Formats: sequence, structure tokens, C-alpha cells
Amino acid sequence: MERTFVMVKPDGVRRGLVGEVVSRFERKGLELRRMRMLTIDEELAHRHYAEHREKPFFGELVAFITSGPVVAMEWAGESAISVARTLMGPTDPATAPPGTIRGDFGLAITENVVHGSDGPESAERELALFFG
Ligand code: RTP
Ligand code: MG
Repeated sequence: MERTFVMVKPDGVRRGLVGEVVSRFERKGLELRRMRMLTIDEELAHRHYAEHREKPFFGELVAFITSGPVVAMEWAGESAISVARTLMGPTDPATAPPGTIRGDFGLAITENVVHGSDGPESAERELALFFG
């Protein structure tokens, strides 16, 4: 049993895709453990995306992720971290395959609908950041 942090980003909430994302995770067989809607402030954005601080797209990323409410979730199940990443698809929605969340619903790389932890350490770190 593994747990992971998944978030519907502001574009996904704005476009009414929360139910679609939750439904895909549920149908896959993962278990929804915790769920919370919030608007990320600058401080939380900087902590959540600390690994990208030096990247050229950091400013754009922080502006986007603080631009409206997000839905933060804890999902659990066998290989939950990699299963969630597979359901989401690759980072760039333009090249993400159809059948993945980003492939079906995204077009621009910053506004790619969902976030999912990329490993066990980031999962624990991100769950603590968003759920305490
Ligand atoms: P995430 O962390 O959001 O689940 O996405 P990821 O692991 O697939 O991608 P990551 O490399 O961690 O990038 C984090 C987020 O930054 C935005 N991004 N913009 N303009 C760009 O070149 C660029 N590259 C990444 C995306 O919103 C990506 O999800
Ligand atoms: Mg990432």
C-alpha cells in the first residue's frame, strides 16, 4: 500500500474537471483518503515547487498555481505514486497521449490540469505541506 499527493490545478478547477479527475482515479481502483479545496498563497507555492526555484518558468508557474482554487487530495493503493502519474500522462499536454488526463484535457505546458507526486519522498513532503 502506497499513498500519493494529487492536485487538480487552478485550470482544472476553472474548467469544471474536478469530477472527471476524481472519477478516473476512483475507477482505476485507488482510494480517496483526504480532500481539500484551497487557494495556494505565494509561500506555499514556493515551498511546493522549491525544486523548480531556478528554472526559467518558475515565475509563470507560481503565478499560475496561485491564480485560483485547487483541489488537494491523498490517494492510496498499490503503486499509487506511479499509477497516478500514468493516469495523468507526461508533463506536456501537447504530446501526452490520448487516454491520459493531460492528453485528453490539456494543451499548454504550464496549465496541465493536474499535479502528482513524483516519488515516495515528495509524496510524504507534499502531503505534509497540504494536510499538516
Ligand atoms: P507536476 O509536478 O505538476 O506534477 O508536473 P511534472 O512532475 O510532470 O512536471 P515538473 O517537471 O515537476 O514541472 C512542474 C510543473 O511546472 C510546469 N512546467 N512548465 N514552461 C515550461 O517549460 C514548464 N515545464 C514545466 C508544469 O505545470 C509542470 O507540471
Ligand atoms: Mg513534478
